[in-house]
Amino acid sequence: MADAPDWTEVVAAATRAPSIHNTQPWLFTGSEDRLEVFYDPERSLPVLDPTHRQQVISCGVAVEFAAVALRAAGLEVEVEVVPGREHPDHLATVRVTGERAASAEDRALAAAIGARHTQRAAFEDRAVPSGLVDQLQAEAGAYGVWLEAVSRSDAELAVVALLNRAEEVEQGEPAYRAELEKWLRTEPGAPDGIPVEAVPGEDPATRPSNWLIRDFLVGQRVPGSPPVPNDDDPPPEVERPTVLLLGTAGDDRSAWVQAGRALGRVLLRATAAGLAASPLTQALDWPATRTRMTLQLSLVGHPQMLLRMGWPAAPGTETGRRPVTEVLRPSG
Ligand SMILES: Cc1cc2nc3c(=O)[nH]c(=O)nc-3n(C[C@H](O)[C@H](O)[C@H](O)COP(=O)(O)O)c2cc1C
Repeated sequence: MADAPDWTEVVAAATRAPSIHNTQPWLFTGSEDRLEVFYDPERSLPVLDPTHRQQVISCGVAVEFAAVALRAAGLEVEVEVVPGREHPDHLATVRVTGERAASAEDRALAAAIGARHTQRAAFEDRAVPSGLVDQLQAEAGAYGVWLEAVSRSDAELAVVALLNRAEEVEQGEPAYRAELEKWLRTEPGAPDGIPVEAVPGEDPATRPSNWLIRDFLVGQRVPGSPPVPNDDDPPPEVERPTVLLLGTAGDDRSAWVQAGRALGRVLLRATAAGLAASPLTQALDWPATRTRMTLQLSLVGHPQMLLRMGWPAAPGTETGRRPVTEVLRPSG
């Protein structure tokens, strides 16, 4: 058996995972041959995510990033998704089962962990190759997660309408706005939350795109009139990102961890190909719009993640992470 991995390094990679509002709702324990991953209820979002679904998905991404980092370090890994086995908030065990030479692919995926950032700015006007979408679909399938591009015009219209409706409902909810504000960071170098530099300053509703990104600055913008275009200005370029919907047959913690693992894989594969993404989960925050999406798209199972993907026009903004010492506990 190989020496115990350097869990500090592995957890540093795992915690580069995206998480809803950058709440980083995870805890880890490392022992000789295994890393246990737990949900941390102290980091919850009671208004946006009362069932912790999106936070458990976030933990699932961290599970995947840990596995990718271990494989790139030349270790064979098995992941067991076992919600509640050792503790009510225990989600998964990442177990090292031996050694094996890291492949070029292992290294490319591991390199993507640090390069990936949620990119909310408009993407370039270039299509995501359909071959890559097929590959993402196959890779998500290996986790029992379906992935489909929202490309049929009737599906696009339905999802856009639900997204707009959800954003409007959320913006009208004072408790939602207060929670969002609590996780927005204006001080440089904050270890968690969403730095204001990572979100576009303009009102997302004024962006020439069908796909409304979450407005993190709602109620905080200085009121003013938007610039009035001149009659002879060229029409604004309309953004046409690829939009991917991921879902699962079940809707319990196992399904959410698996959705997160698949999401982690999809994001790393896309980053390695030079692409970027940002979740658009407003329509999935609320049970009513989530159920409506299932019915209107005749989905088999439960939608878990909606993602816009495209070619980034500029490098993304790095967001903070809490030190590993805060989230990695000795086992036992
Ligand atoms: C389950 C989940 C849901 C998310 N929902 C949104 C969203 O609706 N809008 C958005 O702009 N970002 C969303 N994000 C992205 C997070 O805000 C982002 O991961 C976090 O701020 C850390 O930044 P990074 O991904 O650049 O490392 C979501 C991330 C996860 C994992």
